[in-house]
Amino acid sequence: MRYPENFITELVERSDIVDVVSGYVRLGKKSGSNMFGLCPFHSEKTPSFSVSPDKQIYHCFGCGKGGGVINFIMEIENLSFPEAVEFLARRAGMPVPEEENDAESRKRARMLALNRDAARFFYEQLSSPGGQAARDYMAKRRIGPVTAKNFGLGFAPDSWDSLRKAMRAKGYTDFEMADAGLLRKRENTGFYDTFRNRLMFPVIDVRGNVIGFSGRILGDGEPKYMNSPETLVFNKSRNLFALNLAKKSKCGYIILSEGNIDVVSLHQAGFDSAVASLGTSLTPEQARLLSRYTDQVIIAYDNDGAGQKAAQRAIGILEKLDVKVKVLRMSGAKDPDEFIRLRGADAFRNLLDASENQVDYRLKSVTDKYDLAVDEQKVAFLKEATDLVARLPNGMERQVYAMRVADLAGVARDAVSGEVERRRRRMIRSAQKTTEREQTRPERLIQPDGRALRYEDAASAAAEEGVIRLLSIDASLAKNVPLPDPEDFSAPALGKIYRIIRGRVERGESVDANLLGQDLSADELSLLVRIQQKPEILSRGEQALRDYIKKIEERKDARQQGTDLLALQQKLKETKGYRG
Ligand code: CTP
Ligand code: MN
Repeated sequence: MRYPENFITELVERSDIVDVVSGYVRLGKKSGSNMFGLCPFHSEKTPSFSVSPDKQIYHCFGCGKGGGVINFIMEIENLSFPEAVEFLARRAGMPVPEEENDAESRKRARMLALNRDAARFFYEQLSSPGGQAARDYMAKRRIGPVTAKNFGLGFAPDSWDSLRKAMRAKGYTDFEMADAGLLRKRENTGFYDTFRNRLMFPVIDVRGNVIGFSGRILGDGEPKYMNSPETLVFNKSRNLFALNLAKKSKCGYIILSEGNIDVVSLHQAGFDSAVASLGTSLTPEQARLLSRYTDQVIIAYDNDGAGQKAAQRAIGILEKLDVKVKVLRMSGAKDPDEFIRLRGADAFRNLLDASENQVDYRLKSVTDKYDLAVDEQKVAFLKEATDLVARLPNGMERQVYAMRVADLAGVARDAVSGEVERRRRRMIRSAQKTTEREQTRPERLIQPDGRALRYEDAASAAAEEGVIRLLSIDASLAKNVPLPDPEDFSAPALGKIYRIIRGRVERGESVDANLLGQDLSADELSLLVRIQQKPEILSRGEQALRDYIKKIEERKDARQQGTDLLALQQKLKETKGYRG
């Protein structure tokens, strides 16, 4: 959610950055107008962490972190933007506004109310006389009434307009229902219900809002599921089915499965931390959402090729977020729902306990690819498996798995562990070479410290920084100067910062770093503060701005020609028949 601008402004005014930072850092030694202290974000012996009472920002010359007071609380208390806002609001004794009172958020609130009413309607239909078919289907799938109630399951009647009529009686318009994905429009005859004769699963977000629906056909038929389209409030790739329930689980891990029915069965069998990813394979956004509620995920996908492939992908995504991943192996059933029906909850509990950490799992996947009785395949297996083991950061783990690989292939353990270590050394050497090469590139000298922000075109980036700096110091400079497009910027991070600043300048809004925290990541905000710290002569500001813009345009043309040249070179090489 976005907060009203004037609320954030007042919050920042009432949360003096020197006061707030002083709660965590001993600030002393004024230098110019800045106060200095030991940086709380990296270890150091001489103070390079500065706080500017005038600009109400902090900046560390050592590690490069920087931002406003909200950003400081986000970093030091490890909070999200809204959480940091709440934290500071409590401290300042200010109430936090519920929703921004603009047209879009009114529309959003209205759509959520409609979704809630629709969910209630579907739920009531389930126990009405017309709901017999759905009740029969649920009985067949062994979904009990308590579970149905917990999930708010419902039934969309076999009719073209029953939801439409019920919601119109409550004052919603056809257009509102169509926007929410509940109605569809036919060429000339008008609107009709999207969900008909289906078992309805409301999708509820972590705040308890009904954001969309998933409807399963009663029995066989196509399409098996129909889902709400993307709407103002529903984005499949950013939500997980049943996370609203799973987040309350005390079990310490989250079970990630594929199907809605799996999740419902799992909860019913007592596994109250199951979620599903709404028919998509796990997206990075969903993974990030999960990582806010747990540090361990057990993947329980379907027992088919597609499920196993999706599991591999999910492992990769979750690992990047430091989430521990285990994978459950099922046999004799196609998915958790069927497994529980056939073998019972206790058997599933055993599977959970026996679920493999991802190294075991990956190793087994590699093993399954080869026939180890054939020498040639055995060699290929050893190659792939040693490569996998060599990548494990922990030496002890490498030992253990090297032995396992040796045993699987029936070769000497020493030979495998020797090969693993050799491979590892080779990997490290080549990684070091890459880093060295990057560090000796001349443009690195003016580069921001490390991380993802490396400039491809240093000359252009310097000018891009200049434009950002000038606009954030004095937005009025832009009055008589035509501003470039963000797409002309060579560095994506600078382009993004610039796009946001330009938008604010054009709308006559303030570009105070404290207000940009809603739109920029921590790294981007740090970069912005770093850019603002660099000296700039303001007396000829407008001319300087024009010069920077000219530079950016020149460099853009040069890059354009450069790539053309490269393409030409490549073509020549190809036609001459030798390789680059
Ligand atoms: N899905 C979908 N559209 C389809 C099929 C599936 O959106 N046509 C999504 C649903 O969210 C579904 C998930 O993908 O829950 C997994 O599909 P599947 O395993 O086929 O469904 P289940 O819910 O497990 O249903 P069942 O056990 O009855 O087959
Ligand atoms: Mn399934």
